[in-house]
Amino acid sequence: MRASDRLTIGHLAERTGLSVSAIRYYETQGLVKPDRNSGGQRRFLRSDIRRLSFVLIAQQFGFTIDQICKLLQQLPDARTPNKKDWARMSNGFRKELDAKIETLSRLRDNLDGCIGCGCLSLQKCALYNPRDHARIYGAGPRYLMGNRPQIPKA
Ligand code: FES
Repeated sequence: MRASDRLTIGHLAERTGLSVSAIRYYETQGLVKPDRNSGGQRRFLRSDIRRLSFVLIAQQFGFTIDQICKLLQQLPDARTPNKKDWARMSNGFRKELDAKIETLSRLRDNLDGCIGCGCLSLQKCALYNPRDHARIYGAGPRYLMGNRPQIPKA
């Protein structure tokens, strides 16, 4: 691979929108593995842009560095990951992503209604969560977490 195909940490930061310090941190976590040139400076593969873009978005969805690390470990180190590699990696990721999307959709659709959190502060709570019935499912906003309100039959 030509030296010109390698990116400096500055180029990577500029293209990904990540700070140089964040990229260095991701390196310490094993999320990217740059080479060093004869002057000891880091040189990254162009495909590291995709890796770090994935890290950026996965973190925005609330995935931990540990979870992201485990996912990226499924990609080959010795060569640029191809479509098949990413597809294989995303299979394990898809289920968790679907669960997060479902929770976010419930949040979007129910934020003006009773979320079963126990506050009983909305008029709708009397109907959807009488006497905080939702607490039987456990702590937290139960209707955002997937439990359904038990609406008494008229
Ligand atoms: S919104 Fe909190 S209990 Fe209904």
